[in-house]
Amino acid sequence: MSGQYVGVQAIRWDTDKLLLLDQRILPDKEEYISYVDVNAVADAIRNMVVRGAPAIGITAAYGVVLAARARFNASLSDWKQQIESDLETLSLSRPTAVNLFWAIERMRRVINDISNEMPEPVLLAEAKRIHEEDIQACHRMGELGAALIEKPCAILTHCNAGALATGGFGTALGVVRAGYSAGKIHHVYADETRPWMQGARLTAWEMVQEKIPVTLQAEGAAGHLMKQGKIDWVIVGSDRIAANGDVANKIGTYNLAVLARHHGVKFMVVAPTTTVDMNIASGDDIPIEQRSADEVLSLAGNRIAAAGAEAWNPAFDVTPAELVDAIVTEKGVVLNPDAARMTAMMSSQ
Ligand code: MRU
Repeated sequence: MSGQYVGVQAIRWDTDKLLLLDQRILPDKEEYISYVDVNAVADAIRNMVVRGAPAIGITAAYGVVLAARARFNASLSDWKQQIESDLETLSLSRPTAVNLFWAIERMRRVINDISNEMPEPVLLAEAKRIHEEDIQACHRMGELGAALIEKPCAILTHCNAGALATGGFGTALGVVRAGYSAGKIHHVYADETRPWMQGARLTAWEMVQEKIPVTLQAEGAAGHLMKQGKIDWVIVGSDRIAANGDVANKIGTYNLAVLARHHGVKFMVVAPTTTVDMNIASGDDIPIEQRSADEVLSLAGNRIAAAGAEAWNPAFDVTPAELVDAIVTEKGVVLNPDAARMTAMMSSQ
């Protein structure tokens, strides 16, 4: 990748294979798993080896490259028909992040345009473009988001919307990186983010590596933090933004938006336009992933809940647009989002 960011890399293409940093075992171990099979790539997305909306989309794009290689080697004549089932397998890996479907669709358009040439080089070039464009978008969002912060402050973030969740640099954490460099953000509070602990394991890891001061908290502490006046902004990423500006993000984000409005704390959502789904009128239509009850009943593989208890495990929630102060994309900032403002931003150059 030629983008400016040279820090944490969740996704790498190495000559003829895909490498994914195994996010399930961070920060204890930094290990890459190598992939040459599209079914294994879909499993990696489903099982959280790689996670975060833009990173899921980029991974799927590289998965299409692997699928094309295998299908073309098996049959020169009907690989285009055969690969459709691989695209379907990838699209079934996780339901909420629209970047997944966006990336598959973009790769499908390239497949459709291929005539006699070998598919792999053309598709690999497209996957690398998707990857590179995401890094560039993160840098632009970092600048735009940091510019919204008027005076030096502490912020709260949720889940991990960092380099690990993107091509690099991050969305919410891209704003943190840019804001920290510019002296706008001096401290990050991070929700630990049950059940996968993305805040404790991933966000804290990214911040510590770059010496950005970070304090972890149980997410139940957010109201108390805001009441004490310790933060000026909540800054989060998103998995899908509807045409009216409603925002799906990691479960618990909605709670933060309600608390923020009550306490006069500003609420910023940072996401590339690949996360915006203009085909969905409102957040009511966003599919919310339900994950296994075991993820809530257990912690790091150990059962913690009382025997016999059941668990409900929606992975995401929807924050209504009226609770969002700013949506930051690489195309621009939408203040007080609504359908008209979202349409204007999406149709701008
Ligand atoms: O379940 P996850 O870890 O994939 O959820 C990730 C999030 O909710 C992120 O905040 C979102 O994808 C934005 S990542 C830049």
